[in-house]
Amino acid sequence: MISWGIYFGGERAAEGSVTPWEVEGRVDYDRLIEEFGTQKFDRSLIERLERLAGESHYMLRRGIFFSHRDLDKVLEDYEKGGGFFLYTGRGPSGPMHIGHIIPFYFTKWLQERFKVNVYIQLTDDEKFLEKKRRLSLMETKKWSYENALDIIAVGFDPDRTFIFQDTEYMGHMYEAAIKVAKKVNFSTVRAVFGFNTSTNIGMIFFPAVQIVPTLFERRRCLIPAAIDQDPYWRVQRDIAEGLGFYKAAAIHSKFIPPLTGFQGKMSSSRPETAIYLNDPPKTIKEKIYKYAFSGGQPTVELHRKLGGNPDIDVSFQWLYMFFEPDDARIEEIREAYRSGSLLTGELKDMLIEKVEKFLEEHQSRRDEAKELINTFKYDGNLARRMWRETVASD
Ligand code: TYM
Repeated sequence: MISWGIYFGGERAAEGSVTPWEVEGRVDYDRLIEEFGTQKFDRSLIERLERLAGESHYMLRRGIFFSHRDLDKVLEDYEKGGGFFLYTGRGPSGPMHIGHIIPFYFTKWLQERFKVNVYIQLTDDEKFLEKKRRLSLMETKKWSYENALDIIAVGFDPDRTFIFQDTEYMGHMYEAAIKVAKKVNFSTVRAVFGFNTSTNIGMIFFPAVQIVPTLFERRRCLIPAAIDQDPYWRVQRDIAEGLGFYKAAAIHSKFIPPLTGFQGKMSSSRPETAIYLNDPPKTIKEKIYKYAFSGGQPTVELHRKLGGNPDIDVSFQWLYMFFEPDDARIEEIREAYRSGSLLTGELKDMLIEKVEKFLEEHQSRRDEAKELINTFKYDGNLARRMWRETVASD
């Protein structure tokens, strides 16, 4: 068994598996690259991506996206005029938190710069099937709608974006899903995801469903997501060419840490670990003041004397990873904190201001999204027509 320690429903999928990214409570991203067999996102590739995009992006410059599979090939196809398409998704198990929305913002940037189609899968089936979550199908369908509003609020191009929910769209995907399923043995998914004989057979089939959208076009598919989703692409890459499609390409992001510090993941069962996209300003303030793990010293005097540690300070890390795109500004903050002239409370205030502004704007776009949802989900959508032409007809 390959012990990747992939989590399902918040539980480690297999007894005895290790989580290679948790070293002393922190994710060891270099080790992950090694264990997963992905490629490091090196300087020259970042520069090539930015040159073609016509713009630099702070998540690239700062190594938030740190690893990839076949991005070089995607760019080569693009340079040759063949293009590519983007695919990402969300498991609708509840309200989305800040971490969940990060890949979507980056995907939107890629869409804007490269003018490509984006397919967004809402896996209401997966979240229903994960037994530990105890969610009814009604609930995961409801969350699909709620999460779709958050995703639309990111600002995707309605002419180039198709959002679909598995239980609704399965009729169009089923043929491709069984073609995939026929090529993947139980021993493979058992090894990759840690399934065992008491895993329900819906979960055992589900990897085929998450793989299907990588086959939506006969061009290379690029998937922006955090590294936790990579096991699916690894299975896809074993079988795609046998079905006449490209191996999926991916760019992997790091995890934005839980508010409470670098241990574990943000979790819906522990609301203090995350800020949700629907949290009101009062809650944002309370959570950050109360729970944001601090790299500061125990007293103001000591802090002024010894300075803080931005590397473990969650407020600083949130600013660095998402909320403060200005490089000069973030370096100023880092230095001020490190030298002790900036106190933890002041740093928290900076984060609160940024998060509040971001969520206020996000929530207002989310309200407008209610009017737009059909444009993204139903007929007349260019991306959906393309999928019909390329795959469904063969
Ligand atoms: P889900 O809902 O667990 O996660 C949605 C997206 O958020 C990423 N993510 C994070 N990114 C940064 N920091 C974090 N702390 C953090 N936590 C989660 C995830 O990597 C993901 O990109 N099975 C999938 C749904 C899915 C999907 C896909 C995701 C279907 N097809 C294609 C990505 C690409 C899921 O449950 O995602």
